[in-house]
Amino acid sequence: MKILAIETSCDDTGITMLEIIGKDSFRILADELAMQSSLHSAYGGVYPNLAKNEHTKNLPILLERVLSKLTAVKIDKKKPVDLIAVTYGPGLEPCLWTGITFAQKLAKEWNVPIIPVNHMEGHIWGVFGKNKGSFKIPSVKFPVLSLLVSGGHTELVLSKSFLKHKVIGKTLDDAAGEAFDKVARMLGLPYPGGPEISRLAEKVKKSRFSLPRPMMKSKDFNFSFSGLKTAVLYTIRDLGKKLTLELTIELAHEFQNAVVDVLVHKTKKAIEANKIQTLIVGGGVSANKHLRRELKKIKNIELLLPTKELSRDNAIMIGMAGYLRYKNGEFAKRPQNIKAKGSLQLK
Ligand code: KG4
Ligand code: ZN
Repeated sequence: MKILAIETSCDDTGITMLEIIGKDSFRILADELAMQSSLHSAYGGVYPNLAKNEHTKNLPILLERVLSKLTAVKIDKKKPVDLIAVTYGPGLEPCLWTGITFAQKLAKEWNVPIIPVNHMEGHIWGVFGKNKGSFKIPSVKFPVLSLLVSGGHTELVLSKSFLKHKVIGKTLDDAAGEAFDKVARMLGLPYPGGPEISRLAEKVKKSRFSLPRPMMKSKDFNFSFSGLKTAVLYTIRDLGKKLTLELTIELAHEFQNAVVDVLVHKTKKAIEANKIQTLIVGGGVSANKHLRRELKKIKNIELLLPTKELSRDNAIMIGMAGYLRYKNGEFAKRPQNIKAKGSLQLK
């Protein structure tokens, strides 16, 4: 069985062709990703209409590339795949729509079903994926806790099975990645800011600054990063021209520590409260070295981290999550009725 997976929820266009080669086993037949971060750099964040136009332009090009890479595999030109998996939310609606309408057109032409996929579910099960060769989803000890940290989301998700989830904590304002991006912008660093802040923060072991750790004492599993971001803004404003490169590095270090301290503290609390044995981390911020280092210190837990390529947005994870749903008999009864859901929740 072959699956074509499409991802267009934010600023990355991804198309992947996966083959199911056994029980929960996958082989990547082709994988194409077009990243737009350099285009959005000037705006200091993702500019939705620009992203939408880029997806529209990229999708047919990437599909052509994927199909042309399949020379070694027997393929029926009239029906190259058995299923299409497409992200329908959460994300930027204009962007989601480009992927959905593209999928609908192909599904009609090839006469194949579509499975709409929740992007966040992709970030969870994508932890078992690779961007080359073959891989398998192993048996998993449920309940699983996932810390999903990206530019649009910061969530703690409790999964009772591959298909049943509950969001037990989330950010009340900015997402962790968004806070990294905004603070980077304040410090004059390019977009996306996460990798830049992280690169600077790793240069020192100590900082002269002391920033707040928001919501550390709250009894729930929620997060808040906007106060921390404002604290950085005031620090920069107060320093004015005295903000040297050395101080910028120390500020980046302290900011990263503050974000990671809160993320790890809440994750630990959720692990204890729910007797978790498996912790999955996903989303762009999961690439952060300091976060990974601190999470590895948590005892009595199996920590699953995605590969660098699969921590960021990609279509492989969408194909994997789509397959798990399809296996459960799920697919869109009326593919033409699939709608983009910008604020889709996991459940
Ligand atoms: O999952 P992702 O690729 O796209 C969204 O769905 O948002 O995440 C992108 C986010 C950006 O905010 C970026 O700054 C952040 O992930 N990020 C990082 C790192 N690498 C990417 N944040 C902190 N440290 C990193 N190393
Ligand atoms: Zn994402």
